Amino acid sequence: MGHKMLPVIPAGDIRRRVAELGAEISAHYQGQPLVCVCVLKGAFLFFADLVRHITCAPEIDFVRLASYGGATSRGRQTVFTKDMEVDVDGKHVLLVEDIVDTGRSAEFLLHVLEKRGAASLKICAFVDKHERREVGVAVDFAGFPIQKGFIVGYGMDYAEQYRELDAVYELVPE
Ligand code: IMP
Ligand code: MG
Repeated sequence: MGHKMLPVIPAGDIRRRVAELGAEISAHYQGQPLVCVCVLKGAFLFFADLVRHITCAPEIDFVRLASYGGATSRGRQTVFTKDMEVDVDGKHVLLVEDIVDTGRSAEFLLHVLEKRGAASLKICAFVDKHERREVGVAVDFAGFPIQKGFIVGYGMDYAEQYRELDAVYELVPE
């Protein structure tokens, strides 16, 4: 009942891509008030690396979400277990996620922050995973597109394991 870990994205590729994303984001927002929001826990390493490449003096904040409900998306409820502290009214907001998968977490955050008066809302995801997308959420700045599979490392976990790894692996049952 073990599993294998297949290398998917090496640490060097991550470093290069994160620097590119930072440059893209900096060019997009130059001179405008920007709040970068880290969606905990999965995005913590990506966020820490990314913001060091963002040159437009962003404010930094953190949220953590939990979702309740069954295996089906219908009736699934997303709530904050840690809400933001920075006021987003009139500011541009960049949500930084580890993975956008079904898109439900991102949809929830977009909805809430729009109501709080964000001037614009965009999503940056380390991995844009298409296979299980349920809602029409667009990833504006995507690190790596991945079709399917369960991945860990670089912040992403399986049962709270593997977050500390500096590369990304696919977990494959043996
Ligand atoms: P969703 O887009 O609302 O389905 O939520 C995406 C969240 O599910 C991500 O932020 C991850 O925390 C988690 N997740 C989805 N796919 C994976 C995976 O392959 N590995 C680890 N976590 C995942
Ligand atoms: Mg997550």
